[in-house]
Amino acid sequence: MRRKRTDRRQRRGSGQDFMLVHSARLFPLIVSRQRSFQWRLPSGAAAAAAAALSRGLKSMEPLKATHDPEVPTINPPANVMCPALTTDTDPDPSDTDKTPAVGLLPGETVVREGKAAILFPSANEVFYNPVQEFNRDLTCAVITEFARDVLAQRGVKVVVPGEKERVVVSLSEEASEADAPAEEGEKMKNGAEEPAVTARVGEKCERGLRVLEGLAASGLRSVRFALEVPGLQSVTANDFSANAAGLIARNAQYNGVGHLLRASCRDASMLMYEMRAKKERYDVIDLDPYGSPACFLDAAVQAVSEGATGQEDDEREKLGGPLWAEPIHNLPFVQKVLSAVSGNPSRFGTSKRIEGVLSMVTEELEDVPLYYAVDSLSSTIHCNTPPLLQFRSALLHAGHRVSLSHACKNGIKTDAPPAAIWDVMRCWEKANPVKREKLSQTSPAFKILSTEPSGGGVTTNLQDKRKKCQNKRKNQITDSSQLKNFPCKRFRQGSCSHGEKCCYSHDLQSTNEDNME
Ligand SMILES: C[S@@+](CC[C@H](N)C(=O)[O-])C[C@H]1O[C@@H](n2cnc3c(N)ncnc32)[C@H](O)[C@@H]1O
Repeated sequence: MRRKRTDRRQRRGSGQDFMLVHSARLFPLIVSRQRSFQWRLPSGAAAAAAAALSRGLKSMEPLKATHDPEVPTINPPANVMCPALTTDTDPDPSDTDKTPAVGLLPGETVVREGKAAILFPSANEVFYNPVQEFNRDLTCAVITEFARDVLAQRGVKVVVPGEKERVVVSLSEEASEADAPAEEGEKMKNGAEEPAVTARVGEKCERGLRVLEGLAASGLRSVRFALEVPGLQSVTANDFSANAAGLIARNAQYNGVGHLLRASCRDASMLMYEMRAKKERYDVIDLDPYGSPACFLDAAVQAVSEGATGQEDDEREKLGGPLWAEPIHNLPFVQKVLSAVSGNPSRFGTSKRIEGVLSMVTEELEDVPLYYAVDSLSSTIHCNTPPLLQFRSALLHAGHRVSLSHACKNGIKTDAPPAAIWDVMRCWEKANPVKREKLSQTSPAFKILSTEPSGGGVTTNLQDKRKKCQNKRKNQITDSSQLKNFPCKRFRQGSCSHGEKCCYSHDLQSTNEDNME
């Protein structure tokens, strides 16, 4: 997400991209978060420790406002070593002990996800939702790609676990020159400068990203960032619940990431607004509230850095009122994440699902940010729901562009105007009539159905044709060399690893996709 152009004039030297996070902003939009299942541990003796941490507050109760934001707000129990809780986003550089010193308290359980092992107390003290593993995997994947991009420009190469090292080939024809060590860095195959500094997971990178997780609960997500994402300078894991913040501090220690991860116990909005006055803001902000993140957006805009690249931004993205009316995905960036995850599938437990969702994202209409939920359309006129395929075919038949949406299984994105959408629904209703006598004359259903459809309705013809043609090419291919006339789907999705050896074409411009029909 990028700051509005007008803001640039207010900020000296800006004109830059502004990551109100390539990661955090992307996630709520490209990932549907289901809060249908929350896992909470039964109560037990850890409540005692939690009570000590919370200074007697009830579970999940926010701390009362403190006038001095620098004063740590939590007193850890004597038997638990915790990294300091503070509003300062930079972990104490002297805190480099990576040996876990925190053990399980009675009644606590350890939950493992990704590379993290998280202590969870008994009772409903701190939120944990295992269904969100996919979301956390995807967040790690996206921040990794963002770090790769940003840090390359700061002369740092990130080392991603499981990825094969790139072969460094000297451009020089002279063997002696090729053997000579490069002073600043090595030349890569494409002539670009290979950064001499590397950043590995778990290491603090001075030129790395500053990450804020504003609503961190147990700190699981932040601990995973610290253990799985290379190129981080610091991770601040914040939660206004004293129980949660205490647990974050212990989990940082338990996972040996106290040198990178700092727990903070603040209201997320206040914490972010205070960053407005500071020079060094966050490069990445992750917001994971129970409901909509909208109430945090204004503060987040103040807290995000001025942009890592300094590149001039010629894109026309704007935040208009409460509605984002521009593309919600940066397609080349999504393709990079997709390609990295497909090429290194063992890195995340949910890699297959990430590939599925991101592939769908790459096929979505880029310039249509919103979608219609077909079941909502039918509920408006009280009729049954047309099959997605037929609804889609009707719009295509009428000459509109259509795609599915990753965000909703019954969602259709289209450039068709609302009148065309309702026309399709009217046609559908003709074949599947609604009991008009039951409709109130003032209802939207009554009004919509009072107009006669002008044609172009839902038809089964296209569906039948598609079924007939499915898996049957017009001209059967007998020679495998003919496959070169067809575009490679995986290449289009950024995930083909066969390179020149691929039997399909990587020249998507000149191959005729109709061949695939
Ligand atoms: C959905 S949970 C976060 C889960 C976590 N990000 C994860 O991946 O496991 C939301 C958390 O936000 C915290 N919270 C809610 N409002 C807040 C606010 N205004 N400031 C800080 N924390 C807040 C709650 O205490 C809760 O722990």
